[in-house]
Amino acid sequence: MEHRFQDRIALVTGAASGIGKASAKAFAREGARVACADISKEKLAETVSEIRQDGGTAIAIELNVADSASASAAVEECIQNFGGLQILANVAGILKLEQTHQLSDEDWNRVLGVNLSGTFFMSRAAIPHLLEEKGSIVNVSSLAGLKGQAYGAAYCASKAGVVGLTRVMAVEYAQQGLRVNCVCPGAVDTPLIAGFAPPEGFDPDLINRLSLVPKVTTPDEVAEAIAYLSSPAARSISGVALPIDFGTHAA
Ligand SMILES: NC(=O)c1ccc[n+]([C@@H]2O[C@H](COP(=O)([O-])OP(=O)(O)OC[C@H]3O[C@@H](n4cnc5c(N)ncnc54)[C@H](O)[C@@H]3O)[C@@H](O)[C@H]2O)c1
Repeated sequence: MEHRFQDRIALVTGAASGIGKASAKAFAREGARVACADISKEKLAETVSEIRQDGGTAIAIELNVADSASASAAVEECIQNFGGLQILANVAGILKLEQTHQLSDEDWNRVLGVNLSGTFFMSRAAIPHLLEEKGSIVNVSSLAGLKGQAYGAAYCASKAGVVGLTRVMAVEYAQQGLRVNCVCPGAVDTPLIAGFAPPEGFDPDLINRLSLVPKVTTPDEVAEAIAYLSSPAARSISGVALPIDFGTHAA
């Protein structure tokens, strides 16, 4: 089996579930030592134990990406345990759907805090280490970061922000060899999408427009794209926002 990440150190947020868990396992399967970070301690322990059972190396780091001190501490914990950092995958995220005129301050701030500020806090803390190692960041945006999706004011704004932040960092650090990309999945089969709950009084026609075909991506498929963008084979690729959506964005 190919080992694209032998001797590499990866930090994955959102590693307790869904896409983050699949990504942590994918990096570990191919030789990386993986710092698995999440706010959910119990489920995080499961990810780490599954990686170890498969012969991989992983540690659990409990963090809240929306808290800048917690994000910085997580990066330091990774460095202390593994001695470096070459790959950051910012996967942690939350979804809230609401009619825009009914969206509360609290929900707006919560979604922006985790999805956008969290991506910034983790990247800011990791960049000095990634620059030493000519590393890579992959952020998880969404198709919602590229298109307007009804009832997703906070979510779409946060994910569009992630696309913008990705491009800024890609440009700013290109000459120093740090690559920054993001993936933009449509519907992925995870607990997040299982909890997809349109708001009261929603228009079904607007929800039906969310995807071109009635297909759902698996977490492993998104993890594979994240792994590719983090791998040496993608050494010329930086600043992309990659739709993983069966063509919806092109339509
Ligand atoms: N599932 C989809 O259809 C879909 C589509 C496009 C983008 N995404 C994005 O993919 C990413 C992963 O989502 P998923 O579908 O795997 O969902 P998920 O709910 O399975 O996993 C999200 C993980 O993030 C963690 N998390 C939430 N808030 C956190 C915080 N403050 N600090 C640290 N960890 C936190 C959760 O505990 C959970 O383990 C998210 O950014 C999401 O927006 C998902």
